[in-house]
Amino acid sequence: MPTALVCGAGGFIGGHLVKRLKREGFWVRGVDLKFPPFADTEADDFVVGDLRDQNFCKQITDRKFDEVYQLAADMGGAGYIFTGEHDADVMHNSATINLNMLDACQKRNVRGMFYSSSACMYPEHNQKDPDNPNCAEDSAYPAAPDSEYGWEKLFSERLYLAYNRNYGMRNRVARYHNIFGPEGTWEGGKEKAPAAVCRKVAQASNHGEVEIWGDGTQTRSFLYIDECLEGTIRLTRSDFEGPVNVGSEEMVTINQLVDIVADIAGKKLNKKHIPGPLGVRGRNSDNRLIGQKLGWKPSATLRSGLEKTYEWIERQVRSNTRAAA
Ligand code: NAD
Ligand code: GDD
Repeated sequence: MPTALVCGAGGFIGGHLVKRLKREGFWVRGVDLKFPPFADTEADDFVVGDLRDQNFCKQITDRKFDEVYQLAADMGGAGYIFTGEHDADVMHNSATINLNMLDACQKRNVRGMFYSSSACMYPEHNQKDPDNPNCAEDSAYPAAPDSEYGWEKLFSERLYLAYNRNYGMRNRVARYHNIFGPEGTWEGGKEKAPAAVCRKVAQASNHGEVEIWGDGTQTRSFLYIDECLEGTIRLTRSDFEGPVNVGSEEMVTINQLVDIVADIAGKKLNKKHIPGPLGVRGRNSDNRLIGQKLGWKPSATLRSGLEKTYEWIERQVRSNTRAAA
């Protein structure tokens, strides 16, 4: 039976990845600071612990793993990474996890690891025009990410690739572009725009109002979780080390995102634009490289993913409201 280690298995993408690997017949060990908050883990073995602790990293790599996925990070949406309040922790925590896990895996002769970098590592100067952002993989340098979160991702990408060159590992690096879906953080300050908008629309009454940070003309693309997992697994099992974008090319403004969710909910809503953390002005995945190297790229529509996500978040909002009553 093939075996996999998923670091960050209590989180959104890690939790879904465990389920996918179980469906494929893997024996899976999940590791995280916490159990998944919205569903029981399907991991065969789930170890709660802190990957900033080198000894813990040694302990969890005490058996042979065919695949190792490193998704653990101190992360969140614009409300978490663009305020500047968490910069030191984000850099320290995530860099320490990556340093420790790479060292532990290399010493245990792990063949290769998957690492989840982010589109946040791309330079700000190429993402100023909301209609025409440049996120081609080779536009990364000269580097100028707009957040410390992005700088840590860039450092760690380089670290994984340095282990390939110096230790003969087969690490794989993906640059995720805003992943969304059911069982992701939807409240509390770390949620990203798709979940925040679904929550706000679910909480609004018909003909009511939703608050949106900024003027809503900033652009993004959002990738549904199933396609993120498909890209992750295909890259891990390929001969291409990356870094490569794993994202959608269906770019929308945040105003359009709100309109789609409101339409799914069957509500007419007014948008109230308020000050908030904004991040880059425009961002879109560039999928030429993934298409060339993996012979696959995401193709599902934003709307189809939002329909499933809205349904799940609307249920969370309803059950929270019932519990509070
Ligand atoms: P998430 O926050 O839901 O999951 C990350 C998990 O890491 C959390 O469960 C957290 O408890 C765990 N973790 C943090 N510090 C830890 C520590 N010291 N020891 C053990 N576990 C620890 O985030 P996610 O959306 O599932 O993202 C997974 C990965 O993908 C992260 O590396 C993230 O930076 C990257 N990424 C995500 C997106 C996105 O849109 N979701 C976009 C770009 C990159
Ligand atoms: N989160 C959030 N909540 N964003 C909002 C809201 C709201 O209520 N209203 C408007 N926005 C706007 C933000 O101001 C930002 O301009 C845009 O929606 C997208 O915000 P997020 O989804 O929170 O983050 P991001 O796209 O800037 O960055 C995310 O994606 C990266 C990968 O592409 C983050 O999740 C990063 O951690 C991730 O690496």
